[in-house]
Amino acid sequence: MNWTKENIKSQNGKTVLITGANTGLGFQTALELAKKEALVIVAGRNKIKINAAIENIKKEYPAAKLEAGIVDLSDLSSVETFSKSVLKKHHRLDVLINNAGVMFPPPSTTKEGYELQFGVNFIAHFALTAHLFQLLNATPNSRVVTLSSIAHKNGRIDFENLKLEKPFDKFREYGQSKVADLIFTLELQRRLEKHDLPCISIGAHPGISKTELLRTDNPEMINEFPHMDANQGAFPTLYAATEPLQGGEYIGPNGEGEMTGYPAPAFISDYAQNLEIGKKLWEYANNNMELKFLP
Ligand SMILES: NC(=O)c1ccc[n+]([C@@H]2O[C@H](COP(=O)([O-])OP(=O)(O)OC[C@H]3O[C@@H](n4cnc5c(N)ncnc54)[C@H](OP(=O)(O)O)[C@@H]3O)[C@@H](O)[C@H]2O)c1
Repeated sequence: MNWTKENIKSQNGKTVLITGANTGLGFQTALELAKKEALVIVAGRNKIKINAAIENIKKEYPAAKLEAGIVDLSDLSSVETFSKSVLKKHHRLDVLINNAGVMFPPPSTTKEGYELQFGVNFIAHFALTAHLFQLLNATPNSRVVTLSSIAHKNGRIDFENLKLEKPFDKFREYGQSKVADLIFTLELQRRLEKHDLPCISIGAHPGISKTELLRTDNPEMINEFPHMDANQGAFPTLYAATEPLQGGEYIGPNGEGEMTGYPAPAFISDYAQNLEIGKKLWEYANNNMELKFLP
């Protein structure tokens, strides 16, 4: 039997924060979790888009419990300010879903100078998780779900090219950001275990799903591949967010090449599992952002 959104159990009483929840996979994830009674913090950088997403969810499910969260992940001061507002307002955070992402933007950097994909997809989510960790840690059975990609397979971390030092290569830089997300998922789990903390870290990827992700490149490119609509594309995230799982699991679609299908354990490259690279990336992020997250 394939797992679908119909299998999601009641999430009543849970608080879930989703980045990039105004459109694409994040929006579908917010919609389905709201329908299952979770309080969903719908986070994104654009207030108008976030409010429109909240209205659209309410049209489908008027009883939805939703809250807007405004955060620009290309600016670490925005991540910190937003995190403080969440810590002030909320007494629990059951699930943090590190979903927002950019793919193939023109060569550009975040406010702090990271290549945009590395900065938004990985660095900002590392910071967000670090800032919100005290809330996750205070919530029984909490978890962090981070979105990676099939593109992680060829991804490598070039510590000499995290700030656009080398000529821009959109495939290489996107792969770098997405393998960083998976390395983060696994290293976070190791550190949670090392510190004997019950929160767990899970990875998920949506295969190939029709969203706005290629908006700054070639949106038609997706038609060259088998793909799913964004609602089905959100199933691995929904499964990762709601099913009883072991920390460190990685969930993706079960079809050929993991491009389409229903949630199942997904392939993790040897590189993403490398202990030395995990430690080095973690220390890089902690040191560069002057964080002391699970040392
Ligand atoms: N679609 C796929 O086939 C696929 C495959 C593998 C992995 N993924 C991953 O899935 C995740 C979701 O992507 P998607 O396909 O749903 O793409 P999408 O439709 O383009 O949605 C991306 C979301 O991220 C937000 N975002 C981008 N930059 C941001 C920033 N600086 N600050 C805050 N929010 C920002 C966007 O907000 P705005 O609307 O305001 O720009 C949007 O809400 C990404 O991590 C992506 O790498 C997707």
